[in-house]
Amino acid sequence: MTQQSIVLQMTNVADIRADADDDPITMLTAYDAPTARVVEEADIDMILVGDSVGNTVLGHETTVPVTAADIHRHTEAVTRVTDEPLVVADMPFLSYGVDQAESIQTAGELLKTAHADAVKIESGAHTVELTQRLTEIGIPVMAHLGLTPQHINQLGEYSRQGTTEETAAHMTDLAEQHERAGAFSLVLEHVPANVAAHVTDAIDIPTIGIGAGAETDGQVLVIDDILGISERSPPFSEQFGDVRGEMEKAVEGYAESVADGTFPAPEHSHVEEDIDNIP
Ligand code: KIV
Repeated sequence: MTQQSIVLQMTNVADIRADADDDPITMLTAYDAPTARVVEEADIDMILVGDSVGNTVLGHETTVPVTAADIHRHTEAVTRVTDEPLVVADMPFLSYGVDQAESIQTAGELLKTAHADAVKIESGAHTVELTQRLTEIGIPVMAHLGLTPQHINQLGEYSRQGTTEETAAHMTDLAEQHERAGAFSLVLEHVPANVAAHVTDAIDIPTIGIGAGAETDGQVLVIDDILGISERSPPFSEQFGDVRGEMEKAVEGYAESVADGTFPAPEHSHVEEDIDNIP
C-alpha cells in the first residue's frame, strides 16, 4: 500500500488550516441528514453540529440543557450521509470542565462512534489543558472565544464581547494559548470586527467568525437563521431564504385540501379490483 493510498480522502483539519490562505472558509450548522446533504451539495467546507440544536430543534430556551447524547445522535445523522465537509461536533455544557477523563471519553466517542472529525469547545482559561490533552490523543479541537452561550446564566444576555482594550487583549492571549495547546481553528463569536481582525493577525490557525466582521479566515452561521426558520435571529445574522414561509404554505395547503376533499385524489388511492365483496 503506497503512502498516497492511505491519505484521508475527505476534508481534514490540515486542509482547513491550508485553505485559510485562499478563499474564506465556509461553515454552517446542520443537525439532521437531509439538511447536511444540502449543505454538502453547496460545497460548504465544514458542518458544525452545534449545541444550538437545543434552541433550533429541541425547543430549549438556551443551550444549557443540551446533552452529550443529543450531540452524539445528531452528529451520527450528519456523518451518515456526508463525505466531504469536515464535521465538527460541539461539546455541550457540562460534558467537559468537570472531570478530565470524562471530557476526553465524551470527545473521543464523538469521533469514534458518531464519526465526527473534530470537536468544538467553548473556551477559556479552563480549557487550555484539555485542548492540549485532546490534541495529543488525536482529537482535533476547534476553540471558541468571544460570546460563549453556555455562559448565559452568568452573562444574562447574548451580548458582544471583547469591547474594551483589556478584554480584547485577554481574548487575544487566550487565542494564543489555545493555538499553542494545539487547537486547529478558533471560532470568534459576537466580537467587534477590529478585535476579530487583531486576533486573526495574532495567530496562525484559521479564525471562523460569527458576528465578528469580514476579516476572519472564515464565517459560520446557524442554518435555521439563514434559511428563515428561526423565530428570533441574532443581529449579525442574515436570512437568505424563507423556508418557514414555504413550510407554512405547504402545511396550510395540505390542511385545506383535506378539508375540502381535494386530497387524496384518485391518483393517490388504490382500488383492489379483485375485492368486490368483503364479508
Ligand atoms: O452551537 C452553535 O451553533 C455554535 C455557533 C454559533 C458557532 O456554537
